[in-house]
Amino acid sequence: MSTILYIKANAKPEGASRTFRISDSFIDAYRQNHPNDQIITLDLYKENIAPITKDDIGAIYSPKTESSRKHPVLKYAYQFAEADKYVIATPLWNLSVPGIVKLYFDYVSVVGITFRYTSGGGVEGMLEGKKAIHITTRGGDYSAPPLSEYELGERYIKTILGLFGVYDTSTFAVDNMDRSGTDVEAVVANAIKDVQEKAKSF
Ligand SMILES: Cc1cc2nc3c(=O)[nH]c(=O)nc-3n(C[C@H](O)[C@H](O)[C@H](O)COP(=O)(O)O)c2cc1C
Repeated sequence: MSTILYIKANAKPEGASRTFRISDSFIDAYRQNHPNDQIITLDLYKENIAPITKDDIGAIYSPKTESSRKHPVLKYAYQFAEADKYVIATPLWNLSVPGIVKLYFDYVSVVGITFRYTSGGGVEGMLEGKKAIHITTRGGDYSAPPLSEYELGERYIKTILGLFGVYDTSTFAVDNMDRSGTDVEAVVANAIKDVQEKAKSF
């Protein structure tokens, strides 16, 4: 049995987000195809993720004990480390992920839980062998240069997962959502079909 952590980040109310319509369909299809797996949904806006404080930084760099699991910040790092697969749903905002995603990864990037320092002074991820899919929608088209160079959200998710040793990652991006002439309903319906297929083998 695998544990899937479904991380959602959008200020829009439930049902109004095109990204979530696609990512929720992925999750529904995954559940149907993997009925014994556990799916944990983490809606970052509902969690009220806030910037880390001076005390949180102290906790992040202190030795971990059994009570660390209950710490309001460290608990997210343990939850992340204990999952086997990640589904991350974010729209593109101002060329990157919504800011709350960065705040969340400040919670998750914890020495001794998701990554460690090596004796040689390097950094080593502690979550090798896990896999992730990032599902995103974007107003414009970032699928090819030169605009693909400006798309920092996809790159950020891949890079931060790499810090933890999660290298088996993919992005499912739907472009041109806000371009005039786009038949958004048709594009979303096609994307849903595609992700339902992907969910079978995820
Ligand atoms: C705050 C904000 C910033 C955005 N920034 C960009 C952007 O930099 N580039 C872009 O192509 N679209 C941008 N968009 C458009 C969204 O990426 C696009 O509408 C996306 O489909 C929204 O997904 P949703 O329906 O799940 O909210 C932005 C939208 C919002 C609300």
